[in-house]
Amino acid sequence: MSNDEIVKKALGEIGAAGSSGELNDIRVKYLGKKGEITMLMKQMGTLAPEERPAFGQAVNAARGSVEQALLSAAEKIAQKEDAAKLAAERVDITLPGRAQALGALHPLTQVYYEIRDIFLSMGFDVNEGPEIELDQYNFEMLNIPKDHPARDMQDTFYVSDDVVLRTHTSPVQVRTMLGQKPPIRMVCPGRVFRTDDVDATHSPVFMQMEGLVVGKNIRFSDLKGTINTFIRNFYGEDVKTKFRPGFFPFTEPSAEVDVTCTVCGGKGCAACKGAGMIEVLGCGVVNPVVLQNCGLNPEEYSGFAFGMGIDRLANTKYGITDIRLLYENDARFLRQFV
Ligand code: DAH
Repeated sequence: MSNDEIVKKALGEIGAAGSSGELNDIRVKYLGKKGEITMLMKQMGTLAPEERPAFGQAVNAARGSVEQALLSAAEKIAQKEDAAKLAAERVDITLPGRAQALGALHPLTQVYYEIRDIFLSMGFDVNEGPEIELDQYNFEMLNIPKDHPARDMQDTFYVSDDVVLRTHTSPVQVRTMLGQKPPIRMVCPGRVFRTDDVDATHSPVFMQMEGLVVGKNIRFSDLKGTINTFIRNFYGEDVKTKFRPGFFPFTEPSAEVDVTCTVCGGKGCAACKGAGMIEVLGCGVVNPVVLQNCGLNPEEYSGFAFGMGIDRLANTKYGITDIRLLYENDARFLRQFV
């Protein structure tokens, strides 16, 4: 085959090649060690010396045109291959994303944070105490001796004769007064336990928040002002409060506080049993006996205390009529508070 014929055949194959792999095969076939054009060069030895320069030039020219054709074909194919790769890897940026399921705070936690922040803004500290408590702190030092009828008010889980699951957060009052000199201004949240059967308004575990203020010349009017400020901040300016006389062994005088029913706005409905008001907390002036039990001189110091059910506050604020919803963690219920 002549040079020209070989070149023509090579160019034809290069033109038909569809991939860089095929081009490579063609390069080997013509320009490789045993390639057709390379082999031509080897025929040089069989020629007369005067014929060699012209022959060499011709073969080099053939090699040059095949190399050139390979190069430009390689460039085109690379472009085509790049374009195909880009097309195959194309991302549709207009597709909507997959929504991530986000966690959220439990409604009780949200309500607790809200209550806590109101008291923090009034300068209260936040304290905590143990859920397993000494009988002495849960009852005795709060002026509830063993044979006192007030013990029947709170159905107690006893761990032993002297140790209980705390029935209220009031023992944290005792711990605070024992550990800290007045002035005291603190709230303490926490779980409390009672031997109640579960129903729409009872749960053996629920959440309370206690408050205690002790200092010089603290009076019932300070208690009223503090509670009213809290209630208005929590429920809204329109809500009215009513302080009814009550009884707690650790406060004297004591009161129970009702607020306008948030479900009916005071007209009377099933949620408030027609009363138009709902009881939300107990409070009073700290009984001098309790101050004395905790090593404080009642002649020098006075104080007030209050206790509320965080569940009760959450329920009244959001019109929840069954306390079990707060503890069963049905996602359909919880999602409403995200
Ligand atoms: N400890 C009471 C209860 O669980 C609530 C309470 C009432 C707390 C009056 C107080 C208070 O600090 O002064 O029912």
